[in-house]
Amino acid sequence: MKITFEKSGFDKVKADAYIFLCYEDKNLFEEELKLVQRLLKTKIIGLSLEDFKGKNGQTILIYTSKARVILCGLGKKENISLERIRVAAYNGIKRANSLKIKKAAVEILHDDTLPEGLEEVAAAEAVSCLLGNYYFGKYYTKKEKREKNTIKETVFFAEKKMMEKYSREIERGIKSGSVIGNATNLARDLGNEPSNFMYPESYCNLISERSKNKKYNAEILDVDEMEKIGMGGVIGVGKGSTHGPRFLILKYNGADENEQPYVVIGKGVTFDSGGISIKPSAGMARMKMDMCGSAAAVGILEAVSQLGLKLNLIGLIPMAENMPGGNAFKPGDILTAYNGMTIEVDNTDAEGRLLLADALAYADQFKPKAVIDLATLTGAVVVAIGNVASAIMGNDQELIDKLSIAGKESYDRVWQLPLWDEYDEMIDSDIADVRNASNVKQAGTITAGMFLKRFTGKYPWAHIDIAATAMRDSMKDYLPKNATGAGVRLVTQYLINETKEKK
Ligand code: BES
Ligand code: MN
Ligand code: ZN
Repeated sequence: MKITFEKSGFDKVKADAYIFLCYEDKNLFEEELKLVQRLLKTKIIGLSLEDFKGKNGQTILIYTSKARVILCGLGKKENISLERIRVAAYNGIKRANSLKIKKAAVEILHDDTLPEGLEEVAAAEAVSCLLGNYYFGKYYTKKEKREKNTIKETVFFAEKKMMEKYSREIERGIKSGSVIGNATNLARDLGNEPSNFMYPESYCNLISERSKNKKYNAEILDVDEMEKIGMGGVIGVGKGSTHGPRFLILKYNGADENEQPYVVIGKGVTFDSGGISIKPSAGMARMKMDMCGSAAAVGILEAVSQLGLKLNLIGLIPMAENMPGGNAFKPGDILTAYNGMTIEVDNTDAEGRLLLADALAYADQFKPKAVIDLATLTGAVVVAIGNVASAIMGNDQELIDKLSIAGKESYDRVWQLPLWDEYDEMIDSDIADVRNASNVKQAGTITAGMFLKRFTGKYPWAHIDIAATAMRDSMKDYLPKNATGAGVRLVTQYLINETKEKK
């Protein structure tokens, strides 16, 4: 979907439907109705407050003599939040799509009393229109199925007084919202791609092709190179598949070369059958999305480079297909990770942490300012906190707090779990330095975090388990079923905040 912004006044805005956001409060609601009538030079009749009250989640379609108008409720002013604005704008887009129209016009909420400011409001609207218009239809052969959403363009507009005061803020917000929305949708596309098309080699080629006309570059380590430097985790997991593993390194330089970089690591298991410790067949198809952490990392690099943030960023993406097979790694095997530590493989289905172990150890050479890993790591996180937030753990409270704030701002939220010492012995091994699965059936998300902690270097580190948030069973507002792009908005927001702090 193309996003544009009409700066030269409402008269220039031509669209098939006009979307306005309304508060539930009577006076504000009536004021908004007056505005709609003034802008569209039309009269709305017969809309009593009984039909539509501007309640949160409510929408109403009105046919005026000039145009289709969609009013979207924001609820009471006292409860307003950026998220309510996102959902209201999304509801408008959804309603407009149901009319099978091509071009929608969306009002930038004309309210400058919100603490967040107009840039954030505009960004929220742009991001949710893009996210809400997402649809993965490329594998349908019938056109109606392939292109479910008909809206091809959204033009934003703002009321005259708002334009006079805030046109630059609004423009900046629309730009960043568009970049982040598109980057999140890219992560969704990558996540939804089936594993017969998306395996380590093809995935690497796709991203490295893509990077050619982008402001970041890609380097690929193949099996021989990984063997040379001792990435025993990635190689171990990848052994059972005819599609060999890879290690993809993405680099973006937006600051002085000597400035310490941020590092994002993403789990890239292009299919997780469980390996020899094979998973039950029910629901196994979903494990084509076990590379959503890596997809988020790609999305973050896309967003950060397009926003031109003044920082250096490295993406480390270990990729493997976890399969059973004659050559597969087996329970009881001992692998040696990049940092020389030995790992007893208790369960080949606890494979993600083996990839991340190598990547976390590899990250140390860059002397990072902070390392953030994103991974669909444990089924246990679904039980612990469900798909409302991702779980965050780490060794640096300041980093975790900053990510928590970025999560609230972007509504790509995280909730902290502890990495207390008592959990550490649960992953001790009788035969090697560490074991890849705990000896007790409890705290599965935390023991995975404890495992990762043993491979971190001397840098602030946060681990984000997105197993529940990155792949959804059902849609909710602008979050689709299947791959959601979880982590892109969160980490991009964190990095934006980091560059603001520096000034
Ligand atoms: N990719 C899975 C985790 C997962 C499960 C993601 C469900 C999304 C939905 C991961 O590799 C895995 O299999 N983890 C095991 C670990 C266990 C064997 C210690 C799990 O959570 O069961
Ligand atoms: Mn697994
Ligand atoms: Zn997995």
